[in-house]
Amino acid sequence: MAKRPFIIDCDTGTDDAIAIMAAFGCREITVRAVTSVNGNVKEEYTSRNNLNIVHYLGLETEVMRGAQIPFYPRGNYYDTTHGATGLGNVVLPDAPKEKFSKEIASEAIWRIANEEDGELELLVIGPMTNIAIAISNHPGLVGKIKHIWAMAGSVVGGNCSTTAEFNIWADPVSAKLVFAAGIPITMIGLDVTEKAVLNRADAEEIRSFGNRAGILTANILDYMLNRYKVGGEDAMMHDALALAAAVKPECLVCRDYFVDVECGGQYTAGHTMVDVRGRLGKQPNASVALELDLAAFKSWLKECIRQCGTV
Ligand code: RIB
Ligand code: CA
Repeated sequence: MAKRPFIIDCDTGTDDAIAIMAAFGCREITVRAVTSVNGNVKEEYTSRNNLNIVHYLGLETEVMRGAQIPFYPRGNYYDTTHGATGLGNVVLPDAPKEKFSKEIASEAIWRIANEEDGELELLVIGPMTNIAIAISNHPGLVGKIKHIWAMAGSVVGGNCSTTAEFNIWADPVSAKLVFAAGIPITMIGLDVTEKAVLNRADAEEIRSFGNRAGILTANILDYMLNRYKVGGEDAMMHDALALAAAVKPECLVCRDYFVDVECGGQYTAGHTMVDVRGRLGKQPNASVALELDLAAFKSWLKECIRQCGTV
């Protein structure tokens, strides 16, 4: 069976890094490109992290740089969740900068979508700025993307404010455009990703695989677990769960709803409005993940990390 072509658009980030490694251990897909966006940390770091991970693990794919500022002025919002440069306290050897593709993310998305002739899927695990730029510059992209699998939003609550999840909060204007574009989209939000938590035993099991991806994943998990010990976020596999939605759908229960993004409001900017009661009478435009089978997800993720770079 032909491998499904993907682009991973990410703001790498500790959990993004684990999702990237899982993707290269997924036998169902081929990663055509890894594109960076501003998000967890500045794009100069997210792009460098992507290049270094790909180079360090000897992964075959293109790495493109992307958007450096969102379409919603958020100023200097960066915090220490992912460390100063995005991979916590994990340091990778710097890959030669010449290894970056000369193409920017949004143009690469357009080019590869045409090359894949309607089969391209996007794993969007950061703010949606690159996707919005690609659609804005090439409206025909809408008919060429088979599916967007987005770690995005939430039905209830937020991790950036009382109502907003970070990827949406960081660029709600881009997210609003993407959700309204008409591309089939699955929204994997905090309702399930905050339950996708790994523990120390999981980290040590993954380290025992002994491959570079396993050791790197375990080191990133150590950072995340130590962060949690001092009051930070737990080792939530937000982004890897979005990949699981695409290739291991039995990990999740999803339902179709109409979703829109609030771009204003003291308490609501960045909120994903999910019309769970159908009050608006609008056709659903997204599949929304509601329930997680944690054991199935963990087992799948570990196997992907174990296989990273070999499938
Ligand atoms: O809210 C979680 C999301 O924000 C994840 O994608 C994480 O990497 C951060 O980008
Ligand atoms: Ca991310």
